[in-house]
Amino acid sequence: MKTDFLVIGSGIAGLTYALKVAQDCPDKTIIILTKAQSDETNTKYAQGGVAGVMDMDNDSFEKHIEDTLIAGDGLCNPKIVEIVVTEGVERIREIIEWGAKFDKDNEGEYTLGKEGGHSESRILHHKDVTGREMERTLLAAIKNKPNINLITHCFVVDIITQHHLGFLVTKATPDIACYGVYVINMQTNKIEKIISKITLLAAGGNGQAYRTTTNPAIATGDGVAMIYRAKGRIENMEFIQFHPTALYEPGIAGQAFLITEAVRGDGAILRNNKGEAFMERYDARKDLAPRDIVARAIDNEMKVTGTEHVFLDCRHMDMEKFVHHFPNIYEKCKSLGIDVAKQMIPVAPAAHYSCGGIKTDEWGRSSINNLYACGECASTGLHGANRLASNSLLEAMVFAHRCYLDSTAPSKSPPIGETFQPHKSSTFNQDNSSGNEGGALSDGKAPNVRDLETAIPDWNTSGTTAPKEMILITQSLKELQLLMSDYVGIVRTNVRLARAMKRLDLLHEETEALYQATEISLQLCEVRNLITVGYLITKGAQLRHESRGLHFNTDYPYKSDLLQNIVL
Ligand code: FAD
Ligand code: SIN
Repeated sequence: MKTDFLVIGSGIAGLTYALKVAQDCPDKTIIILTKAQSDETNTKYAQGGVAGVMDMDNDSFEKHIEDTLIAGDGLCNPKIVEIVVTEGVERIREIIEWGAKFDKDNEGEYTLGKEGGHSESRILHHKDVTGREMERTLLAAIKNKPNINLITHCFVVDIITQHHLGFLVTKATPDIACYGVYVINMQTNKIEKIISKITLLAAGGNGQAYRTTTNPAIATGDGVAMIYRAKGRIENMEFIQFHPTALYEPGIAGQAFLITEAVRGDGAILRNNKGEAFMERYDARKDLAPRDIVARAIDNEMKVTGTEHVFLDCRHMDMEKFVHHFPNIYEKCKSLGIDVAKQMIPVAPAAHYSCGGIKTDEWGRSSINNLYACGECASTGLHGANRLASNSLLEAMVFAHRCYLDSTAPSKSPPIGETFQPHKSSTFNQDNSSGNEGGALSDGKAPNVRDLETAIPDWNTSGTTAPKEMILITQSLKELQLLMSDYVGIVRTNVRLARAMKRLDLLHEETEALYQATEISLQLCEVRNLITVGYLITKGAQLRHESRGLHFNTDYPYKSDLLQNIVL
């Protein structure tokens, strides 16, 4: 297959981009790939809403910018913050035009929620299922676009670069370029290649690297891992956001149900097992302090009291309003026998959001030519050391728009087959030692562009056999999730990080051996990607000699004067 635009991911970032390109370029082809069914994304599970300055009488861009910078703890890129906050309102209006419904009061004004770190009420929401509504809107909108082909159950293994043409590509290679992807077509179980002129990675988060996460099973950091393998730039991976209030269900690992921060915005109070409202001991903003502070406070209370959770107390709240705003949470608690009017909800922090990712510039361009990244897999500079609540849906829409503008600019749209070639200034050395990949060109010259489809080799399965024991994969996953939760969680130390790294090395070695010897599968690729992501988080944490935002290391309990992004 070949296409003009290839989009990896059907969450808010990928769908927004695809829709805009399809509208603007009706004569171009767009393929969207997703590894599960079309709506199984982090986007679908978003609850609280999308932050935006919609009430100019009481709010302002300056206040939203200031709140984002404070949450980011010194590491946000102020220019990007300004771009997202100011352009975000237009993007919100756009999705409303496409059909998204946000809650309004009796006067027809949007009811704006409040979450941690926000100085004003500015969160647009659809009950407590905002992401579901946004995902529904976008999927409905792309259905009407004849030039979009959405392919589900298609797992992207790797992006194709000069490496696959037989050239040596290292971190120092200038002008690495993306020509498309290798995929596992899960309908046929075959590995296929898709060639594209422009590729957008919108592959979402990596919460599955931890034992408990608010993220669904698809969040395995594939995008970041494949760009790291392709020698692209990844940054700030140590900043993993733990959501303070995931529903605690004894013995349940994997995806945890979220109790949105908006519940605290409406007045709910965190209490420890003695019934104490402990947040006042940690921060003047109490239950609505930024997430890093609240999650650390809960972690400390759990350790001090020897419990596995704290409580969220909603008993004093107006229950009619509660049920109206949070029907999904109310029903979920009820299904577990918790009557929120009478009982407190047991909650504990869970891995929630990756602030770092594929490094991009202000147009969403990655360090690899023809390759854009946006949404949770990207690191644009907005979040710094800690994301402000409800800023990520906003960021995804703003950067999807920017990627669309840049990638469809006239200089970027010659027809496929005319311009496909490694950058003329590149001096790639040949590398014949690349195992499964590469080697189609033998004379060391840039490929003949018309022959690119044949120059890119088919996936080489020789020497691999069918997997004999799935336990090797499932056990590696469990080990990874446990070690990341125990050693690279909310509170870190040098010793814990060193231990994690040793164990990650072993897991890496074992999994690579399996990968080389076995016919690849979605499960094997995901574990391999999660191990890479675990390595990147841990490496970033080891290199950051300070405590800042979401990264807290008791061996460096202070902030250094050096404001730096850790680029790997
Ligand atoms: P996703 O929506 O996760 O989509 C990723 C897509 O990539 C999927 O289609 C997946 O199948 C595909 N994919 C991944 N790897 C591959 C591969 N190898 N091959 C093929 N396809 C692949 N943010 C807010 O701003 N407000 C909120 O209220 C909010 N609440 C949240 C609540 C929960 C429970 C969670 C988990 C997150 C929440 N967030 C919230 C964060 C926000 O939802 C996400 O950051 C955002 O939706 C990410 O969108 P995305 O398009 O980047 O990725
Ligand atoms: C929530 O609803 O608490 C999650 C909001 C977010 O992650 O931005």
